[in-house]
Amino acid sequence: MSRKSSKKIAGTGFSRADETAGKGQPAAAAQKAQSSPTARVAHIGIAVRDLNEALRLYHEALGLPLHGRESVESDGVNVAFLPAGDTELELLEATVPESPVARFIEKRGEGIHHIALEVDDVAETLRILRDRGYRLIDEEPRIGAGGVRVAFVHPRSTSGVLIELCEKGGNGGL
Ligand code: CO
Repeated sequence: MSRKSSKKIAGTGFSRADETAGKGQPAAAAQKAQSSPTARVAHIGIAVRDLNEALRLYHEALGLPLHGRESVESDGVNVAFLPAGDTELELLEATVPESPVARFIEKRGEGIHHIALEVDDVAETLRILRDRGYRLIDEEPRIGAGGVRVAFVHPRSTSGVLIELCEKGGNGGL
């Protein structure tokens, strides 16, 4: 059953065999099948209307440290990173009306915008996803906040979750 685990993870769901399989076995098989396994959630992106107001909550009231602020002109956003345990929150505020974050808020309101998964090699992971028929926003890795190689996968092929692939070794997207 383990030989098919990797297919099931990217496919329609888990089979009964996967559910009853020994712990660790499917994960090991998946790692074998993918040359760029995900290590952790690098960060969770949250779309906000007003970055300063959001910092009053996450930084001042909840006490998360403020790791850095940055303006990413190519995406039309100001971002702030706040470490939270093994991961970080990335607060995103649009700087121009045509920014994807501005369009997201207009359509769906403020809230969780994307989940960033850390991988060894963004280009290789893109190739794996493309081969399996997933729709990509970025066909090639590009440079995100902090000079880290990133790429986005289209939410239409991921059950509505915008996934950011984030290359290891760059402080998880900062
Ligand atoms: Co991000």
